[in-house]
Amino acid sequence: MSLGPDPRSLCERYTDETYARMRDDHARTCAYEQAIKAVASGRVCLDIGTGALGLLAVMAARAGAAHVYAIEANAQAYAAAVQTVADLQLSDRVTVLQGYSTDVQLPRRVDLLLHEILGEIAGAEGVVVAVRDAAKRHLATTTRVLSSATATAATDASAGDSESAAESAAVAPAIVSIPVRARTLLAPAEFPGAHYFASLPFPMLAAPGATVLKLPSLPRDVLLAAPQTFEDLRFDAAAPEGVHDVTLEFVLERPGALRGLALHVEVFMTDADASVPDVSSAQPGSHWPNVFMLLSEELQVEAGKRVVVRACARLETDQPLYTFEVEVCGKPVGARMHYPDNLVPGAAPGDVQDLGRRNGRRI
Ligand SMILES: C[S@@+](CC[C@H](N)C(=O)[O-])C[C@H]1O[C@@H](n2cnc3c(N)ncnc32)[C@H](O)[C@@H]1O
Repeated sequence: MSLGPDPRSLCERYTDETYARMRDDHARTCAYEQAIKAVASGRVCLDIGTGALGLLAVMAARAGAAHVYAIEANAQAYAAAVQTVADLQLSDRVTVLQGYSTDVQLPRRVDLLLHEILGEIAGAEGVVVAVRDAAKRHLATTTRVLSSATATAATDASAGDSESAAESAAVAPAIVSIPVRARTLLAPAEFPGAHYFASLPFPMLAAPGATVLKLPSLPRDVLLAAPQTFEDLRFDAAAPEGVHDVTLEFVLERPGALRGLALHVEVFMTDADASVPDVSSAQPGSHWPNVFMLLSEELQVEAGKRVVVRACARLETDQPLYTFEVEVCGKPVGARMHYPDNLVPGAAPGDVQDLGRRNGRRI
């Protein structure tokens, strides 16, 4: 029995089609472009996971970055990015490097990290390890010290650098990472009904016994309470937390058949404390699927009932892992759920078995 794909092997799954789909996710791409235009001018940038289109690297070069280093693990995407950069006559301003970012050495330090290595659960594609590593080995210390709140994390990240403490104390530009924050929210939910599956352009597939479903959009009418954050990745000091243990309490807004947890991701480009995220996977048109963690049993619940969700994220290793446990009125509902889903021998999360045909039936 194996866990789901680790972040390194996920890099091999990207294709021309997935890069085009991400580019055409208008809300996401425009939000990155706007943020990069506002921040990258005159700075040396590192784009972690540049993809076949070198998307963020090209944006930064066009925004007047002093130089851009762009790292890509996928060999085909790397070759395509080199070609794209050459075709755009940006080869003197963008250096594309092949490899997994934690293995790659840069010729100099940078002032700004760019990255879109966020998963359908934000930390699932290894962004925490990649950003922490980039902060330590590639980010100039002068750009890291922002405020007393972030100074400790930045200093930790720079331990062992040859750059001086005096340099660290210099006043610095406020943004060291685009995005500056990504978070994942969850809400107790019913199983989507027949109308939801009927609205999809293709049938939904899931492994028999799977605990993880990937829905192309968030069916908001299944939520039994407003979503709450369980994973909050703050990149403002380029030192996102690797361990998240959160207990969330929901008071149900309506009665229903509790069947799982509906998750979505929100991204903040330059203002970590903005009241509205720049990008949300709950918005129509998002390329990120919405994860539905499926409980092993269904429970009829009344409005006003208290549902407690214990969510744990372990993101500091090469294999990010999440677990979720649900309680209603102090009693566990179903078994503990895992992401990636390792409960089904031999099955990858989201694999085969027709769920569309079970349209709307409670399972
Ligand atoms: C979600 S795609 C984003 C591509 C592009 N930056 C964009 O925004 O459209 C993530 C890309 O990063 C690569 N990748 C993920 N983690 C990486 C890492 N730590 N080092 C190098 N490449 C990575 C993947 O192979 C993939 O090409």
